[in-house]
Amino acid sequence: PLVPTGAIVGAARARRRGAAAFNVIQIEHAQAITAGASQAGAPVILQLSQNAVRYHGALRPIAMAARAVAELAGTPVALHLDHATDTGLVHEAVALGFGSVMYDASALGYEDNVAATAEVARFCHDQDVWVEAELGEIGGKDGVHAPGARTDPGEAAAYVAATGVDGLAVAVGTSHAMLTRDAALDLPLIAALREAVPVPLVLHGSSGVADADLTAAVDAGMTKINIATQLNKVFTGAVRDRLAADPALVDTRKYLGAARDVTAAEVARLLGVLRSTPPE
Ligand code: G3H
Ligand code: ZN
Repeated sequence: PLVPTGAIVGAARARRRGAAAFNVIQIEHAQAITAGASQAGAPVILQLSQNAVRYHGALRPIAMAARAVAELAGTPVALHLDHATDTGLVHEAVALGFGSVMYDASALGYEDNVAATAEVARFCHDQDVWVEAELGEIGGKDGVHAPGARTDPGEAAAYVAATGVDGLAVAVGTSHAMLTRDAALDLPLIAALREAVPVPLVLHGSSGVADADLTAAVDAGMTKINIATQLNKVFTGAVRDRLAADPALVDTRKYLGAARDVTAAEVARLLGVLRSTPPE
């Protein structure tokens, strides 16, 4: 069933489990993610990024599909808008029943970021929608996505207090769309952020992180774990294998269905790595 994002993330933080958030581009992603969650017996978050919305030309078609997939799922599933810089898109997502949004004002300077994010948080809280933000580097550099960037715990606490956000994306060593598993996570920093910041912490760019480090990040206090590239890598690899095995294939269901099954298994595996599965 579709559940509020805050329910999944809140329970995960309290129990020191990971709340996995996987990016959806095609409907097959949403189906694979919920199938994997059912296999693992774990809750999961489906997230649609502003970039994915741009690909589809509109939010509504893919959002309605993802929402319907979530409603039919065997475990609790939440719907999240990822990396939105357009407040119009935030409003649209809330109207479509999303349980949460990430408003990304990291390109702005600190004061403007705080003011814009606080306004989005007020709007969303009126509708019981959970809000994630990211604290950009002061001076507006690459924010949480530069491998060398680090979030200062004191600044993070002040930012959360000033904006009223419910979750915070922090810079602890990852960057987006990494295909090599060589990201070095700053585990002592994660622990310090968990102490200093009263809301769940969000790890972006998790595809570049080794399994053991993902588990260690959750143990150290990271809660929402965003994964996009790793599922696309598995999905596309399966499509490539299926097409190579049968050059005469024309039915899209044959290779997309095969990729969906392989991706579901990867989701189930990752949910174990992230301690999202309930204890025995
Ligand atoms: O917001 C989504 C993520 O940060 C995913 O990053 O593609 O490196 O897993 P990734
Ligand atoms: Zn991200």
